[in-house]
Amino acid sequence: MVAMSDAVKPEPALPADMTFGTATASWQVEGDVAGRGHCIWDDFAATPGAIVDGTTGEPACDHLTRFDEDLDLLTWLGVDAYRMSISWPRVQPTGMGPVSEAGLATYDRMIDGLLERGIDPVVTLYHWDLPSELPGWTSRETAERFADYAEAVGARLGDRVSHWATLNEPWVSAYLGYAAGVHAPGRRAPAEALSAAYHLMLGHGLALERLRAQGLINLGIVLNLIPVYADDPGAQAAATHIDGLHNRFFLDLLAGRGIPADVVAGTTQFTDWSFVQESDLPIIAAPIDWLGENYYTVNRVSSVASDVTAVGQDLAAYPGSPPATFAPREPVTAMGWEVYPEGIVDALRLAATALPGVPLWIAENGAAYADVVSPDGIHDIDRVDYYRQHVAQVLRARAEGIDVQGYLAWSLLDNIEWAEGFTKRFGIVRVEPGTLTRTPKDSALWWRDRLATRVSP
Ligand code: FCB
Repeated sequence: MVAMSDAVKPEPALPADMTFGTATASWQVEGDVAGRGHCIWDDFAATPGAIVDGTTGEPACDHLTRFDEDLDLLTWLGVDAYRMSISWPRVQPTGMGPVSEAGLATYDRMIDGLLERGIDPVVTLYHWDLPSELPGWTSRETAERFADYAEAVGARLGDRVSHWATLNEPWVSAYLGYAAGVHAPGRRAPAEALSAAYHLMLGHGLALERLRAQGLINLGIVLNLIPVYADDPGAQAAATHIDGLHNRFFLDLLAGRGIPADVVAGTTQFTDWSFVQESDLPIIAAPIDWLGENYYTVNRVSSVASDVTAVGQDLAAYPGSPPATFAPREPVTAMGWEVYPEGIVDALRLAATALPGVPLWIAENGAAYADVVSPDGIHDIDRVDYYRQHVAQVLRARAEGIDVQGYLAWSLLDNIEWAEGFTKRFGIVRVEPGTLTRTPKDSALWWRDRLATRVSP
């Protein structure tokens, strides 16, 4: 039998009993910096060289003034859900004290706009835009203020949000922000990163408690669990250390197992973890109703020297790690991230094993490529292929019995890719530099077709 080439393989039929949508985050798309307080990403962007192309939060995608147009794009796509984040400094300009009525009204309108279009709002409370006035995630104070902010947002929007995520990717906030220094607040202080990781999780637990006390449902968190593979036996110790800091630290805290013993043992040179209070642990481990996973790539760790670079894959982000290198294999995306669709199943298994019974979502998945604009469209075939392969693997995970209930593509729009600015584009819809005109790429057309031809299980 002749194997079908990828090009002629039938497209996967998407199940009708799963939620599909797209995702964005406040600082990456909103603009309107004048309408809110400052956040650590504004400060970081003002540091020369911190963001490669000098991008700042203004105008981003100007999403706040164009959100009707953007929500219409969601209708055109035919999605069930849209994951957005709330800018903490827009709701509470200094991260504490009175809320801004105008800020809350903005999100009120956005959520109503989604509901009018029959789209479920999936809301992330913290996607990295920490108010500048707060002491940072190394402080218990920040975790407590986060709970106050969560309560204020819950009180206002809770009647209309279908799923809540407290945090997006606490590993990234803690380690790229406080150890590798490539994200805000740009610190290179391993001890601070470990403390930040813990206080982020405390913030999650405290916020969850407040939301639950309001009777809100579908409360969860989004992690970027990443399968870690040792390429050779010499890299095994580093792979275990990396897996501990990146995956098991968060999963064990959520599962009520505290901080893994090997993580404590592997970081004694930086901290004695004395900021951990026994009474915090049950708060952090309160049951979640769903877990979001963001999946892009895997961590392939090698003991062989290599000069291959991939954004964010840096040993400085794993304090105390034995020496090793990251060795992504071809093909890679514009981020240098290995395209490894099977890894999404391994990532889902990590959560399914650690937190049995918790419904899982892929809360982000997608790829950056250098798009070429042609007179007849934007033929981002690599991105289409990336989606096709990853969605097929997610369906395989479901067939294996993993309870994946949702899948959200990152991202609806080309937006500010953090320290990469606009040099790396993940959108299924192009945002033209300068005019900010929106143009669906072929990947958006692909999603539209797929969403229109769903099958019942
Ligand atoms: C994730 C972030 C998201 C986006 C993608 C590419 O780590 O959550 O905001 O930048 O990476």
